[in-house]
Amino acid sequence: MRLLTLLITLLSFLLHTLATPLPPSPAFPPDTERYPIDRHSLLLHFMTDTTGLENLYPNGWPEWAKFDSRLQFTILMQEGRWQCAAEWTPGVLPGEGVFLPCALRQDGGKGTGVEKREGLSAIEGRGIIEDKTEVQFTLRRWYGLGVRRPEISVMLGIRRNVTLDDESHEIWYGERPLYSSQSGPMFCTLGPPLDGMRCSDLDGPLAINSTRVGGG
Ligand SMILES: *[C@@H]1O[C@H](CO)[C@@H](O)[C@H](O)[C@H]1NC(C)=O
Ligand SMILES: *[C@@H]1O[C@H](CO)[C@@H](O)[C@H](O)[C@H]1NC(C)=O
Repeated sequence: MRLLTLLITLLSFLLHTLATPLPPSPAFPPDTERYPIDRHSLLLHFMTDTTGLENLYPNGWPEWAKFDSRLQFTILMQEGRWQCAAEWTPGVLPGEGVFLPCALRQDGGKGTGVEKREGLSAIEGRGIIEDKTEVQFTLRRWYGLGVRRPEISVMLGIRRNVTLDDESHEIWYGERPLYSSQSGPMFCTLGPPLDGMRCSDLDGPLAINSTRVGGG
């Protein structure tokens, strides 16, 4: 009898649990923007330690074949796609606290479909003066997976300085690490001899979450 009571109690508890609706998934905080990076737009290219032609060049890279490290990507915001690119001396990032400009693509790079699917914008719907809005990016070393070559372990920061219709400014900032591992977000392949390493974004959403950090 007691066992039956216990079973009934257990059953009603289970039924109750099942009937209780799941809590709604947490909404984005209102002061959040999310900027998707265009799929496969990210390219990181840098010199590897070895050339791939050790017999021919036992002392490493010949001068004529050396090249600077390069990162490029396009990132989607309300006003369209921003093209960002930087080159720097191998093994040395552009400099902590240095912000590099991104350029708004003039070739009709707007993609409302992507915005609706992946983007999130606290600014959307408010008027923006596009030619007074600036986007910049910064790179700093990231040690989340230990000490690695700077190129494949960086924190990418995006700063957006929005000028609104009333001429007020809002500064938004967000960052995310870029590294290469089995689960991404970057996938790197060794090129032919003297081509170094090329990394791109794996399939899957690669986005930067951003919050308002200032303005007036
Ligand atoms: C934001 O942009 C405006 C207009 O170009 C400029 O006057 C202001 O100094 C910028 N602010 C920052 C923090 O970059
Ligand atoms: C951005 O925010 C979304 C929603 O909160 C979260 O799922 C995602 O992991 C965040 N991405 C990064 C790179 O922080």
